[in-house]
Amino acid sequence: MSNKITIEPQENLSGEIYPPGDKSISHRSVMIGSVSEDITQVENFLTGEDCIATVKAFRKMGVQIDENEPGILTIHGVGINGLHEPDDVLDVGNSGTTMRLISGILAGQPFYSVLTGDDSLRSRPMGRIAKPLRMMGAQVYCRKGEKAPLTIIGGNLNPVEYKTPVASAQIKSCILLAGIYAKGETTVTEPAESRDHTERMLRSFGAEVISSGLNRMIKGRPKLSGHKVIVPGDISSAAYFITAAVLCPGSEVVVRNVGINPTRDGILVALKMMGADISMENQREESGEPVADIRACSSSLQGCDFNGDLIVRMLDEIPLVAVAATQAQGQTKISDAIELRVKETDRISATVSELRNLGAKIAELEDGMVIEGDIELAGGLCKSHGDHRMAMSMTIAGLIADSETTIENINCVDTSFPGFWDMLSSLYR
Ligand code: S3P
Repeated sequence: MSNKITIEPQENLSGEIYPPGDKSISHRSVMIGSVSEDITQVENFLTGEDCIATVKAFRKMGVQIDENEPGILTIHGVGINGLHEPDDVLDVGNSGTTMRLISGILAGQPFYSVLTGDDSLRSRPMGRIAKPLRMMGAQVYCRKGEKAPLTIIGGNLNPVEYKTPVASAQIKSCILLAGIYAKGETTVTEPAESRDHTERMLRSFGAEVISSGLNRMIKGRPKLSGHKVIVPGDISSAAYFITAAVLCPGSEVVVRNVGINPTRDGILVALKMMGADISMENQREESGEPVADIRACSSSLQGCDFNGDLIVRMLDEIPLVAVAATQAQGQTKISDAIELRVKETDRISATVSELRNLGAKIAELEDGMVIEGDIELAGGLCKSHGDHRMAMSMTIAGLIADSETTIENINCVDTSFPGFWDMLSSLYR
C-alpha cells in the first residue's frame, strides 16, 4: 500500500461496524497471561504492530504464544518465575505501552535485558518508570536524559509506596507489575485516575489489588491463574467513526462491541457535552470490562472547555476532539493536557500545525489549545508526524473539508488499527 491516502469529503455515512480489539487490554492479556500458570486464551486480540511487539518480546523470553486463528491467542503461561533471559535486545518498535509495562515485569527478573524501540520511542521519557523501579531495587540504566535503550537487571524487589507526579496508566501499571515480584504490599498513588485495565485484569487472574481513592495496592507474589480473556472493541479506535458520524451531515453509524470503561469514556462525555447525538445500547460486561453498542448521528455542536480529570479519560482522543471543535458554534479550550507533548509525537504542536494548515483558527497553549468553531476546513496536504492517532484524526478532518485532503506517511496506523480506511470507507454511501 502506498504510504499516503487521499480523502474525499463525505456526507450520509451509515452502517454498522466492529472496531478492532482494545490495544491496552490486548497488551495486558499477553503480559499477565505469560506470567500466569496454565493457559490463557485471548479472543479479539488486536493484531496491530504494537501488540505484536509485546507478543514477540514474551516469545523471546521463552513463552509459547500461538495464534491459530486470526485474533485468537493461546498463551502457555510460565508462572511468575518462569521467564528466561532473552538472548537479544527486545525491540518494541513504536510501543510505549510495551516498553513501560514490560519494564515492570523485567525489574522482577534475575536476569539481564535490554529494551529499545523506534526513533519516536527512543525520544520519549523513561525516567518516570526507571525512578520507581530503582527505588524497588532494580538496576535500570538509560541513555542520557533517561531515554531508551534501557538495560534492566532485576530481581529481589522491595515493595514501595510511590506517588507519581503524572496521571499515567503506563507508570501505574509498570509499578503494579513490578509489585507482583516484591515481597509485601506495593502502593502507587496518582494525581488523577488513569485507565484501570491492569488492576481489573490482575484481579481476574487472582492477584489481590485494592483500589482506595487514587491509591492502588498490590500484594506481592500472587499465584496468577490463566483463563479466557475476551478483549472488547477499542473505544480509542471507535472514536474516529463516532466523531465522523457526528460531523458528517446526514449520518447514522452504529459501532458495536465498544469498551466503555469509565476511565476511558472521556470522548463520549466530551462529544455529549458539545451536544452530540450519541446513545448507548445493549450495555453488558465482558471479561470484567463494561461494553456497549454506540449509535452516533450527525449533530450541531457547541464549543466547550475541557480540562481537569476528564482530560486523562480522553487523552488519546484530543486531536480528534480538536477536529470536532472546528465545527462547533463558539470556542473550545483544551487545557491540562501537557502529557500530549510526550506521546508518539508532540500532539499539541502536531494538531495545531495540521489543523491550521487546513484553515482552522487554532492557538497553541503550553498544556493544550484553543480552537475557534464554525470554520469551513479547506482540503490540503497533511502530515501524520509518524503518529497513528494524528493520521486517523486528520482523516476525519478530511471528511468534512471542502475538497480532497491527502495524508502522508500513514503506515503508522498499523500500530493500532490495521484496516482503518477499509472500515471507514464501508460507511460511505
Ligand atoms: C496506555 C496509556 C496511556 C495512553 C496510551 C496507552 C496504556 O498513556 O496514552 O496510548 O495502555 O496504558 P499514559 O497512561 O502513559 O498517559
